[in-house]
Amino acid sequence: MQLKSALLQATQLLEQGAIASPRLTAELLLCHALSRDRAWLHAHSDEPLSEVAWIHFGRYLHERLNGKPLQHITHRQEFYGRQFRVTPDVLIPRPETEHVIEVALRRAPNARRAIDIGCGSGALAVTWALETTAKVFATDISLPALTIARENAQALHAPVHFLATHLASALQPASFDLVLSNPPYIPDTERESLQREVRDHEPPVALYGGPTGVEIYQPLIADAARILRPGGSLVMEIGYQAQERVRAMLDPHFTGFEVDHDLAGWPRVVSACYSP
Ligand SMILES: C[S@@+](CC[C@H](N)C(=O)[O-])C[C@H]1O[C@@H](n2cnc3c(N)ncnc32)[C@H](O)[C@@H]1O
Repeated sequence: MQLKSALLQATQLLEQGAIASPRLTAELLLCHALSRDRAWLHAHSDEPLSEVAWIHFGRYLHERLNGKPLQHITHRQEFYGRQFRVTPDVLIPRPETEHVIEVALRRAPNARRAIDIGCGSGALAVTWALETTAKVFATDISLPALTIARENAQALHAPVHFLATHLASALQPASFDLVLSNPPYIPDTERESLQREVRDHEPPVALYGGPTGVEIYQPLIADAARILRPGGSLVMEIGYQAQERVRAMLDPHFTGFEVDHDLAGWPRVVSACYSP
């Protein structure tokens, strides 16, 4: 069978299975089976599919049709133009989280010491270390997540200091110019309404923020106030409808509150300046 026929059949199967972006998913799974990129695939679509690649491709299709996220099959996700390794131990970095980097670059481009609280795969910390000259720290409460984050930092040559701790509790007071965080913020009550790819495959510690989803922001903001120097910046991702509650928690120690929206128009990133 030619590669293009295999792609056509796979796309139809994925479409029937109500998988989002069936053609792109089929291409990425076939690329993974062939250990090639999409440019190669497009240039060689008349070539035959080997038996070994067909076996791998069939298995990947089966896994995706059963709800396994594409990124857990390919073990890769792009973030801010770089490839990150992902496993079921870390949140798959989302494109909207790139806004955290953009907002921080606007608010604190010259931060000398920065920290990512709840680093997961290391997407924010590694990106900040590679996009700026800051000394970068990253924490997570999950040891398996820290292992993946360290691997990503090493693979991408990003000098990041990792620590296993609750939020930033192991860090010195008044020692940072910038705090970045994308904490878990999905309300526990929304568990059943999540897509199966998220609910059944991503780590609960990375998803749920408490009964209403905003519970983690109070201790996170208290820790940020403790470790930031006066004038330092806090940039956090927020969930749906959390904006006003998080703004209230930032009062009165943070000023210059701003909200940035994602491409879908949702308030996604809040930022403020520590003004004790
Ligand atoms: C939503 S994920 C974000 C991961 C990554 N920063 C990203 O944007 O892709 C939240 C991360 O916070 C970590 N986390 C949850 N509770 C924590 C806590 N109390 N202290 C430190 N990290 C925590 C989770 O293990 C998870 O890796």
